[in-house]
Amino acid sequence: MCGIVGYVGEQHPEKVLIDGLKKLEYRGYDSSGIALMGQKDVQIIKSVGRIINLEETLKKSKIIDSNMGIAHTRWATHGGVTEANAHPHKIGKVTLVHNGIIENANVLREELKKEKVKFNSETDTEVAVALINKYYDGNALYAIKKATSKLKGSYAFAIMFDGDDKLYAIRKDSPLIIGYGKGENFIASDIAAIINYTKDYSLLAEGEIAILDKEKIEVFSDGEIIKKKIIHSNITSLDADKCGYDHFMLKEIMEEPKVLDGLFKRYSDFSLLPDITKYKEIHIVACGSAMYAGIVGASLIEEKCNIKCYVECASEYRYKKVIYDRKTLVILISQSGETADTIAAMRKAKDEKIDTLAIVNVETSTIARECDKALFIGAGVEVAVATTKAYILQVAMLSLLVIRATNDKKAMEEAKKIPGEVNNILGEREIFEGVAKDIYKARDAFFIGRGIDYAMCMEGSLKLKEVSYIHSDAFQAGELKHGTISLIEKGVPVFAIITDERIKDKTESNVVEVESRDAFVYTITNDPEVPNHRFRYVVPKVSPYFQALLVVPVLQLIGYYTAKFKGLDIDKPRNLAKSVTVE
Ligand code: G6P
Repeated sequence: MCGIVGYVGEQHPEKVLIDGLKKLEYRGYDSSGIALMGQKDVQIIKSVGRIINLEETLKKSKIIDSNMGIAHTRWATHGGVTEANAHPHKIGKVTLVHNGIIENANVLREELKKEKVKFNSETDTEVAVALINKYYDGNALYAIKKATSKLKGSYAFAIMFDGDDKLYAIRKDSPLIIGYGKGENFIASDIAAIINYTKDYSLLAEGEIAILDKEKIEVFSDGEIIKKKIIHSNITSLDADKCGYDHFMLKEIMEEPKVLDGLFKRYSDFSLLPDITKYKEIHIVACGSAMYAGIVGASLIEEKCNIKCYVECASEYRYKKVIYDRKTLVILISQSGETADTIAAMRKAKDEKIDTLAIVNVETSTIARECDKALFIGAGVEVAVATTKAYILQVAMLSLLVIRATNDKKAMEEAKKIPGEVNNILGEREIFEGVAKDIYKARDAFFIGRGIDYAMCMEGSLKLKEVSYIHSDAFQAGELKHGTISLIEKGVPVFAIITDERIKDKTESNVVEVESRDAFVYTITNDPEVPNHRFRYVVPKVSPYFQALLVVPVLQLIGYYTAKFKGLDIDKPRNLAKSVTVE
């Protein structure tokens, strides 16, 4: 969600900035822009839609001589998707890009209007620019500090001042890093943006102000220059390449066996895993697919460990009254570790002195740093907005926690063969392409299952709807006849997940009910005895710890191929962002 890149150095800044913006495309955006600092002027070029549009506009423009610039991909929050609302914004001597939301923008705007400030956009961001400009009398550090002390909400800013050859950066509740090059330096939302230029970076902490020129970076905290820890990234730019696949989504699904194998090997040493049995109650809090991974995990925790386990979406959890027991554990699940609501939920639990455990992919993220304990899933870079391999690893990590709790050595043995089984299923992906061909013209689709199968349905349904734009819902199979069955008519695809043998006959009878109403039923099961309707795919039967790891890749591939048949922008579905850094 919104991407920031800043550059100061000898290269053509526009080249580095556009390159960086492309690497941040995966975060989700709907317009983009760039500002270059010239000898006399600041040149700002913006464009609505994909970065290619910005590139086209740049090609047609006479680019000024410059050694410094800032750039931005915007995911609209305040104000529509227009060129005027796209960043960078400039007022007076200040040019700025912003990720986050200024919550008191309306009040501040009214105050500034009384002071005759003229605004050119509907954004909250422009208010921050105006405020910094108001306090700027040649001392950038003072102006930034003074203005940000008046802002409520979240922000990561990259800022330039007319006639100043330095870049400035500050953040609060929105990620921002500074990158160290040779004769050049960088600001970015994450390291992927600048990985072609440097692997060395520091995380900017809240309230710190970074000042960059091409030779050095100074970071101020409470008015003092501080020494920052330099992190060396081990991602390669290849990680962010499609490696011959048509889309990142498919590439990332195909990586699932490898990353699963890595996870199982790493955590075969139980001592690396916390013991969840010492808790009386567990809350799993997350958003989107991470929450659905949590629902699979909760089912295992309750079944196998007899511990009460609730799953709640972070945007609700952060504001509701939560009744904590002193022996509660809060598990936060997040691929990015930067999801605003999940961060807030974590801080809420920490404020109550409740133990927090993160299951997270990005090791340098806010959640990874602030949680009491973090378990890293090791998915590598995930570029497609719709998560696939990270979801699979989140489920696997929760399974490992349960296996450790039950000290199930046999399950650990079984884990070794799971990556191979996933690989075999992915090898049959043409079958799922066939399913996609059968359903891609549908308007609606439904996923039904019970218990842990229902948890898998939720992820399958989300995957299908987010990439193919087919309206899709998941239902507990028994609940279907309390309303939704009225939507079943000839040819409506219904996916039935049947892996829990205790309730397979129950779900099968729900399947018969929808089939009697002419639905097309596609069954994914681990039991060859389950009847075949329009389509049936049988995955190997494994213990419940691992069953979702074999079923969900099938659903991911069906979602992927359906979007492909529809010719959609699979890796960047409309309106979605990979990393939801605002509420
Ligand atoms: C967005 C992404 C999803 C992801 C969710 C939570 O909606 O598109 O793929 O599951 O955010 O993100 P997180 O980084 O916290 O796992």
